[in-house]
Amino acid sequence: MKSTTLSLASTLACIADFYDGCKVGCEGFEGYRKSADLTKFIRCAGELENGQFINPRHTIFVDLGCADGRVNLLMSYFVKKSIGIEIDPDILGEYQSHAAELGCRLTENQLTVPPANISLFAGNSLADETFQRIRAHTGVSFKDVDIFYTYITLHDAFAAKIAAQAKVGSLYLVYGFNKILPRYDGLELLIADVASQGIATLYQKTA
Ligand SMILES: C[S@@+](CC[C@H](N)C(=O)[O-])C[C@H]1O[C@@H](n2cnc3c(N)ncnc32)[C@H](O)[C@@H]1O
Repeated sequence: MKSTTLSLASTLACIADFYDGCKVGCEGFEGYRKSADLTKFIRCAGELENGQFINPRHTIFVDLGCADGRVNLLMSYFVKKSIGIEIDPDILGEYQSHAAELGCRLTENQLTVPPANISLFAGNSLADETFQRIRAHTGVSFKDVDIFYTYITLHDAFAAKIAAQAKVGSLYLVYGFNKILPRYDGLELLIADVASQGIATLYQKTA
């Protein structure tokens, strides 16, 4: 393995270790903002990269319910632009302190700090107004997005919006289902079990 590859693997492992140490919603009433397991997510991103579904030079990624932006931070190493939307501004507000603490840890360990390609927005992912704001700030419109992501939250409503408004060929990564997988009108199931962990499914918008 080349040293740059080794360094990226160490960087991603450090990020997963940091965020997986402060997962939210695994117990009690905060289930609605459950955090993805970033150790598993790294394997999903690796499989998407190996299958050429994502590319660091071209891909625009959007987390439709990004909470504290942890998936955005991880995906920033795999894509050109990593955009997140969170309806609760207090939850989104946690991004800065977590990212700052993580940045210190990465620097102390001589690992790679995230690229400056992360943009997070407070708003409702179902509202056109949110994407108009995103376009004004980043130049990215809904039709430019290559891969949308959700951790179960509003997965069927987001699928309907993607089927109606996204570009043909755009991808939809849904985290959190196992065995019984949802089907969506206008989207084809592409990979039932991304990275064989029983946790993530990839769909694609058909014509
Ligand atoms: C299950 S958490 C997932 C957090 C993160 N994406 C992850 O994978 O770890 C879902 C988040 O979506 C947010 N959310 C719910 N409805 C939303 C909407 N319409 N637009 C944007 N965010 C929303 C919730 O507040 C919550 O923080």
